[in-house]
Amino acid sequence: MVSVAVIPGDGIGAEVIPAALRVLTLLTRERRLDLDFEVFDWGARRWLSEGVGIPDGGVEMLARQYGAVLFGALGDPRIPDMAHGRAILLGLRRGLGLYVSHRPIELPGVTVDLYRENTQGLYAGVGGTTGGPAGIEVAVDECVYTRPAVERFVRYCLRDLRRKGRRTVTLVHKANAVPHTGALWQDVFRAELAAVPELTGTEEYVDAFCYHLIRDASRYEGVLTENLFGDIASDVGAAMMGGLGVAASASVCPETGFGLFEPVHGSAPDIAGTGTANPYAAMAASAMLLRHLGHDEEATCLRECLRAAAQGGTATRDLGGSATTEAFTATVLDLLERRLRKDD
Ligand code: NAD
Ligand code: IPM
Ligand code: MN
Repeated sequence: MVSVAVIPGDGIGAEVIPAALRVLTLLTRERRLDLDFEVFDWGARRWLSEGVGIPDGGVEMLARQYGAVLFGALGDPRIPDMAHGRAILLGLRRGLGLYVSHRPIELPGVTVDLYRENTQGLYAGVGGTTGGPAGIEVAVDECVYTRPAVERFVRYCLRDLRRKGRRTVTLVHKANAVPHTGALWQDVFRAELAAVPELTGTEEYVDAFCYHLIRDASRYEGVLTENLFGDIASDVGAAMMGGLGVAASASVCPETGFGLFEPVHGSAPDIAGTGTANPYAAMAASAMLLRHLGHDEEATCLRECLRAAAQGGTATRDLGGSATTEAFTATVLDLLERRLRKDD
């Protein structure tokens, strides 16, 4: 039995994750999967009322008793500096060692396997400010990378691409302007690539990469990049896929096998509470979770039903349709039920 911790979070996270959970519950029941889901209320409400982000011992509890996390989104207008988001989401990524974030950009006929380093760089939490009478005078956020962290990331991603039968891989960096971490990444990339002869490597500056990606994504198969560039590139990719409502992400620790699965989007306060959020990305993240836990058939079935639902006239507003979260979810559940009955 694998226990999955479900953290819906704030805003539309608390709307799309319950929808995804209905889909996962149906699949678990009908296909007798060895899965069990438990919901946690970590997020803005608890942060504001109790001052708690991840409760004491929470990371260790997840690592010990759970095999994966299904995560929604954090972000609340009452916490404008997003302190709880850093405490919880970055706390989970770092605490559980989820150093690879796979954020595929799926386009008609082309999938770009984008991998984002998920624990260091500008997200390392190194920096500070000095103040004066006018407020902050100097502010520093350091981009920190250690060689072992870059090595483990690059090594894993290259092997994952080889396993997928990919032939080319692109390192996305900014070594012309950010030379120290840039040089470390180039050095590690070239050394690790030499050990994987099936892959041909190229290197691109992140600005040019975004330019080329939008103009012709078929130039790319696998893309490896550091934390902040990967964050930005995954929203660019989401826009190309049709919107943030459909882009999903898997953050994993290759050594422990632990994974956190989440939509790429945030809590979308501009549409939260309207019932119009697209649960597609949360469901696509659920499909990634199923695949990660070895339930390939169910993952593929869910992916096919999602595509059929979005194309079949029940698209949500962000995709140009008029369906609500509930209507889209009902369509996916209906398609799944029919598919599962046919398979019996
Ligand atoms: P966002 O991703 O929440 O929203 C950007 C735009 O995309 C908005 O117009 C929103 O309505 C739309 N959108 C996003 N997801 C959608 C969906 N499923 N269906 C339909 N439309 C959707 O980004 P933002 O507005 O910059 O951030 C809002 C809050 O979320 C901030 O507090 C931010 O820090 C946080 N955030 C959290 C995460 C996360 O928890 N993983 C990710 C990104 C942003
Ligand atoms: C993401 C989000 C997070 C990130 C924020 C909420 C800290 O934008 O997962 O893409 O920057 O990693
Ligand atoms: Mn982001």
